[in-house]
Amino acid sequence: MKLFKEISSLRNFLNEKRLNGITKIGFVPTMGALHEGHISLINASKIQNQLTVCSIFVNPTQFNNTDDLAKYPKPIEDDINLLIENGCDVLFFPEVSEMYLNDEVKKSVDYGNITNYFEGKFRKGHFDGVVMIVKKFFQIIEPDNTYFGQKDYQQCMVVEKLIQENNLNIQLHVCPTLRENDGLAKSSRNVRLTAEEREIATIIPNTLYYIKDALQKKPLKEILINARQQITAGSNLMKLEYLEIIDAKSLNPLSEINETTHAVALIAAWCGNIRLIDNLILTE
Ligand code: PAF
Repeated sequence: MKLFKEISSLRNFLNEKRLNGITKIGFVPTMGALHEGHISLINASKIQNQLTVCSIFVNPTQFNNTDDLAKYPKPIEDDINLLIENGCDVLFFPEVSEMYLNDEVKKSVDYGNITNYFEGKFRKGHFDGVVMIVKKFFQIIEPDNTYFGQKDYQQCMVVEKLIQENNLNIQLHVCPTLRENDGLAKSSRNVRLTAEEREIATIIPNTLYYIKDALQKKPLKEILINARQQITAGSNLMKLEYLEIIDAKSLNPLSEINETTHAVALIAAWCGNIRLIDNLILTE
């Protein structure tokens, strides 16, 4: 695997590859602390492209909590080994000073419902930072395909808008969430849960599955009341930020579901000091 820390050398390498006949480049952006979820994105890219580029960059502009940024896991040696084992071709691992100017100002992004609610509301400025860095990566790497995990459902929609807004010739692939055996969505933040919290956190996927199961049996309003109660009922370590059933495209909360509705349940909750998000597609 080739490792680049500088934009110019990565660009030169990719240009040379293109001149030598590489026509499909896949890109998997990450913040490291890689797990099987990330590897599934690498695998998806390897199937559809001749060259796969992964980035590891803990992007400071998308954190609205300095503690979360400071404590974000950074096991770079393990990450590099995992990428090599899984046949990733290129790792881009820049310093903050390579990606941002000293005096660079974060621009506010407004994609309506997509950026204003849920993660956009509870993590002010988060999507501004995501758009800023993903756009830079797209401009540097100019991939044909890019791979994002469905676990960050709203982020996938933001990236879709970013691509449309800038008329980029990039195909976004949203890959399914990978889960642990007990249902907890794989996430780099899971390693920060204590053993007790790790067990309690399974209430998140269990509640999502409850919602899906109850859809045919109960009115939506009642399902949501039960589901929200369920999250915090078992332990005072759990604090719910939001739990909504929304239209998959507009993100508008739904009051009923019929045969034509594409509904998704979105959740964010704190388990101790760790904020976890998850979602489940309810009707396709
Ligand atoms: O999902 C992530 O890990 C990050 O938001 C991303 C897409 C790598 C941008 O920093």
